[in-house]
Amino acid sequence: MKVIWITGGSSGIGFATAKKFLENNWIVIISSSNLEKLNNAKKRMAETTKVENLHVIKCDISNKSEVEKIVLSIENEIGKIDIAILNAAAYSPNKNQDFDLDNYELLIDVNLKGTLYCINSLKKVMEGRDNTIAIVSSPIGYRGWPTSGAYGMTKAAQLNLSESLFFDFKKVKIKIRVISPGFIDTEATRLNSFKMPFLKSASFAADQIYKGLVFKKRFEIYFPFLIVYFVKILRILPYWLYFYLWKKIGKF
Ligand SMILES: NC(=O)c1ccc[n+]([C@@H]2O[C@H](COP(=O)([O-])OP(=O)(O)OC[C@H]3O[C@@H](n4cnc5c(N)ncnc54)[C@H](OP(=O)(O)O)[C@@H]3O)[C@@H](O)[C@H]2O)c1
Repeated sequence: MKVIWITGGSSGIGFATAKKFLENNWIVIISSSNLEKLNNAKKRMAETTKVENLHVIKCDISNKSEVEKIVLSIENEIGKIDIAILNAAAYSPNKNQDFDLDNYELLIDVNLKGTLYCINSLKKVMEGRDNTIAIVSSPIGYRGWPTSGAYGMTKAAQLNLSESLFFDFKKVKIKIRVISPGFIDTEATRLNSFKMPFLKSASFAADQIYKGLVFKKRFEIYFPFLIVYFVKILRILPYWLYFYLWKKIGKF
């Protein structure tokens, strides 16, 4: 049986994706920073899905030594990781557009350094094995959006990093993929105060991620098509037009 490790699997997209892979006979390890949330997640999962192949492990990705330990213990005690989905992230919508340094630092620690710690530990064990590391970024990382400085910055960096490592990790036979979800209904996005266009469920996201990782080879897995494609067009506009649109649409 194949093995998948999903960081941030206690809720939202990570939880739904874990369920999808379990249902398709994978050995699934979910981790997050909160063991109680993970145990609750396992209980919830057991209501609808067989969970004998589900493992829950506490792992705060912003703690480098914890990440190193967990990767080795998965490899030695559960099985060789075929796919790692680096999905865990901290999220905080900045409604008031305050420049909050603590918030920037938190998001850098979790979303950026945490992702780097995972990649660093995974590279050591995955080299030469043709395994996959999939990094969950966001279309918000395509460009700077109003009120999204901290979160958007980390997602842009994850995307740029993924593009770069796509080339570099070919040499060590590790596939790098990036996942760019549109608006998905999760604990994180329930904090948003605006209406989210084309909002989809976490199980929709899980289906797309499963299909993208298992049956397709494209570097980027993105969904739903319409909203993400629209943001891809915004990405190539010249600054004057991009800024003008935000001024017209959102009075920014
Ligand atoms: N929902 C969307 O619309 C959307 C759109 C684009 C991209 N994304 C991306 O999708 C991913 C999942 O987001 P979501 O919407 O499913 O959010 P979510 O439900 O809030 O899930 C975030 C997960 O990350 C874990 N986490 C947070 N801090 C952590 C840490 N320090 N160490 C380990 N785990 C940690 C959380 O668990 P604990 O609290 O137990 O640690 C939770 O399991 C994120 O990367 C997000 O940026 C989401």
